Amino acid sequence: MTSTLMRFVRSAIAVSALGLTSSVPAQTAAPAFTPPDADSIPDDDFGKAVRKGQDIFLKTGDHAADFVGNTMNCVSCHMDAGRRKDASPLWAAYVLYPAYRSKNGHVNTLAERLQGCFRYSMNGAMPPADSETIVALESYMYWLAKGAPTGVKLEGQGFARLPKPAQKADYTRGQEVFRQNCALCHGANGAGQSVNGKMVFPALWGDDSFNWGAGMQSIPTAAAFIKANMPLGKGNTLSDQQAWDVAYFMNAHERPQDPRFNGSVEETQKKFHDVATDLYGQTVNGKLLGARSTPAGGKLRAESKVSMK
Ligand code: HEC
Ligand code: HEC
Repeated sequence: MTSTLMRFVRSAIAVSALGLTSSVPAQTAAPAFTPPDADSIPDDDFGKAVRKGQDIFLKTGDHAADFVGNTMNCVSCHMDAGRRKDASPLWAAYVLYPAYRSKNGHVNTLAERLQGCFRYSMNGAMPPADSETIVALESYMYWLAKGAPTGVKLEGQGFARLPKPAQKADYTRGQEVFRQNCALCHGANGAGQSVNGKMVFPALWGDDSFNWGAGMQSIPTAAAFIKANMPLGKGNTLSDQQAWDVAYFMNAHERPQDPRFNGSVEETQKKFHDVATDLYGQTVNGKLLGARSTPAGGKLRAESKVSMK
């Protein structure tokens, strides 16, 4: 059975189990949710924590400097202050934790999930679970999810997965998509752009980007994000094939090392990257990816603020 058909069958079963009539469209299986307006954050002590969380989310390096090793912000990927559907919105994430994650093989609290974002996506260090940083981010998420049902996958959660590409994702085609649609903002070398030392367009690869342990280095995840959200302001204009190709091209470049690296690219590949859609440890254009990565931790490591042991 195709996966679309399976999904239809599953939601039809769910609908009949609820005793609803068959006139209810299958899509109602994932309820829609709209977070509260940004200007309705309460003017009290709790509201202060929510605002702090929002500040951290928008300007992570300014408000959580001790834990950020690159020039990115949380909002670089979770767009529109963590509100946008299909860009892994925070309100949809809040109601799904604690959750089992195959990435580390146990049930993760929300705090642990957030720590992972700092370690991998921000190429940094994990704030303690009871730190002001984590408490503020949790407060912001809780506030955004006000009134949402818990334990339910809401419409727009995560990234909308694309069907498998018709043609195998290809570096050369991806490079052409990149030149025509992405280089203007993200730079011809993918390193992003800054003005007066402040990042305005985030790096897609290289030392200022997310590291090899991050979710975005998985090609299906990157393709899904790109399809829905890029080029900026023109989401859903690339074809699925273009999104797959440019995701492959982006993730076929070197980036900071996986913080779980044990000294051997081969062993790290086997342990953490053993899927075809992950290019770590694979040779592309004659280069073994992961072999020339700078150590994890980025600027934190340079400032000796972090030990990556
Ligand atoms: C480079 C892009 C990127 C950056 C920067 C980033 N994230 Fe993420 N985030 C992702 C991806 C990709 C996933 C999904 C990973 C997966 O496939 O499990 C994710 C998942 C999450 C989730 C879980 C979502 C869910 O529905 O389960 C939360 C919460 C989250 N990120 C918060 C943050 C916070 C807070 C920051 C900043 C400290 C941050 N992220 C920075 C890309 C990013
Ligand atoms: C008009 C400028 C612009 C164009 C063109 C553009 N982007 Fe982006 N991109 C951005 C900005 C700005 C962000 C950060 C979003 C935010 O902060 O709200 C971003 C974020 C991203 C991210 C997540 C953060 C990171 O650096 O990893 C990826 C991946 C990405 N873009 C890929 C692409 C790809 C691929 C293309 C071409 C198909 C593209 N972008 C075209 C401006 C652009």
